[in-house]
Amino acid sequence: MAKVVGMLNVSHIPAIGGAIANKKHSEPYWKPFFDAFEPVHAWLDEVKPTTAVIFYNDHGLNFFLDKMPTFAIGAAPKYTSEDEGWGIPVFSEYQGHEELSWRLIDALHEKEFDMVVCQEMVVDHAVTIPIELFWPNRQSPVKIVPVNINTVLFPAPEPARCEKLGLTIGESIENWDSDERVLIIGTGGLSHQLEGLRAGFMNKKFDHDCMDNLINNNKWFRQYTSKEIVGLAGTQGLEIINWVAARGACPEHMEEKYRFYHIPISNTAAAIQILEPSK
Ligand code: DHB
Ligand code: FE
Repeated sequence: MAKVVGMLNVSHIPAIGGAIANKKHSEPYWKPFFDAFEPVHAWLDEVKPTTAVIFYNDHGLNFFLDKMPTFAIGAAPKYTSEDEGWGIPVFSEYQGHEELSWRLIDALHEKEFDMVVCQEMVVDHAVTIPIELFWPNRQSPVKIVPVNINTVLFPAPEPARCEKLGLTIGESIENWDSDERVLIIGTGGLSHQLEGLRAGFMNKKFDHDCMDNLINNNKWFRQYTSKEIVGLAGTQGLEIINWVAARGACPEHMEEKYRFYHIPISNTAAAIQILEPSK
């Protein structure tokens, strides 16, 4: 049977793409951030995932404000990125896992998630930056299934619904007659707000509360609406619901293997969290 080998969640910030392209890894501003990926690389070498399901939010590259699906899933043989206007490089394409995509689409449909199914899909910095950080030389390429959650335009889905989306995906992976070792990735967050009167807003206490509860108390998020999370974490801090969906896709009992938290990268409280199924 297929196995969920763990959850690896990370912030996604376009400026990281510029730092990678311009080899700024050793500069004082960037060094603590890039150094924080050494334990991540060691962990990936140990758990050896073959496939990744990536919960993320598109920022206007594949979907724009005029047509914004609540939930969408890729079912494409490959995914490319394009220039988003941040001045960062366009990374080369990623292989899709079509069989897993269709399996998840069927499982989600059965549980009344009517997904927008994308047989062609471009992925933005919310997918590309995490992959480039986790596998800087693409040394062990995983096939991917991107799962897009609307965090940019109200009505955004509620955290409880995202948890259920993840649960449905996790159950389908665990029942899959396959040798695949599946890594669950959630991207975005933690607290940040890019615009308006609260531009630059962050909330360290709330961010750590989120990471504490993600370990084994994902239902904690059910107490909040998405609007309340915007109040607590900033407009783009709502991206934490991608992490909630990712945690939903993992086994019930998990252990925290690694946590990193750093303020700021660009306008964001940047974080990494690794959870592994309890032995
Ligand atoms: C930044 C953060 C994001 O999550 C994003 O999607 C774009 C920019 C930032 O902090 O610059
Ligand atoms: Fe974002």
